[in-house]
Amino acid sequence: MLNIALPKGRLGEKVHDLLASVGYAGGDLSDMGRRLVIENESAGVRYFLVKPSDVAIYVEHGAANIGIVGKDILEEDRPDVYELLDLKLGRCRMCVAGPRDFTDDGSKVLRVASKFTNIASRYYTSIGREVDIIKLNGSIELAPLLGLSDVIVDIVESGNTLRENDLAVLEEIMPISARLIANKVSYQFQSQEICTLRDRLSEVIA
Ligand code: PRP
Repeated sequence: MLNIALPKGRLGEKVHDLLASVGYAGGDLSDMGRRLVIENESAGVRYFLVKPSDVAIYVEHGAANIGIVGKDILEEDRPDVYELLDLKLGRCRMCVAGPRDFTDDGSKVLRVASKFTNIASRYYTSIGREVDIIKLNGSIELAPLLGLSDVIVDIVESGNTLRENDLAVLEEIMPISARLIANKVSYQFQSQEICTLRDRLSEVIA
């Protein structure tokens, strides 16, 4: 049995559809109620529905053999797992955003609000800019509106949240998409099952 950690929500459903299309259907995800585990013995898979930011934790500790997680979380947390495949789903961008007319004249320490404090910190270190990073957990776009920060580092997908709050992308840091990851020990001992799944996915994506 392969234990697979899936991110709850829309991305998880899309990924499950993709896995189902190559023979790994778990069942009807839209009819789960409050259940968090779904199993298909004949397909040899058991899915765990977990918070997106927890997928890599389950995989790193071996509670799940493989998982699907956004590149944003892999870059932020740098878990000790193997990244096997870019699923090309859930595409978005990690960006610096702020008021449309904002220009950084470098005269004072830049205040940056983000959920992704490690990504933000590494980005500003790479360009040699001194920053104060303010950790938030959601609704990041509020920070520059209320003067809590000058800019934000956040995910931009459609751009609607920025537009509706009179903000704009100032810099693009990196493209993001969902990745298939594996526990390092599982990859050694269940390599055949894991590689078969990865290769089937890779074929349909191509
Ligand atoms: C994410 C992100 C942005 C928004 C971007 O927030 O933090 O706020 O989506 O998407 P868009 O470009 O399509 O508008 P999420 O919905 O995860 O909620 P949060 O504010 O609680 O982080």
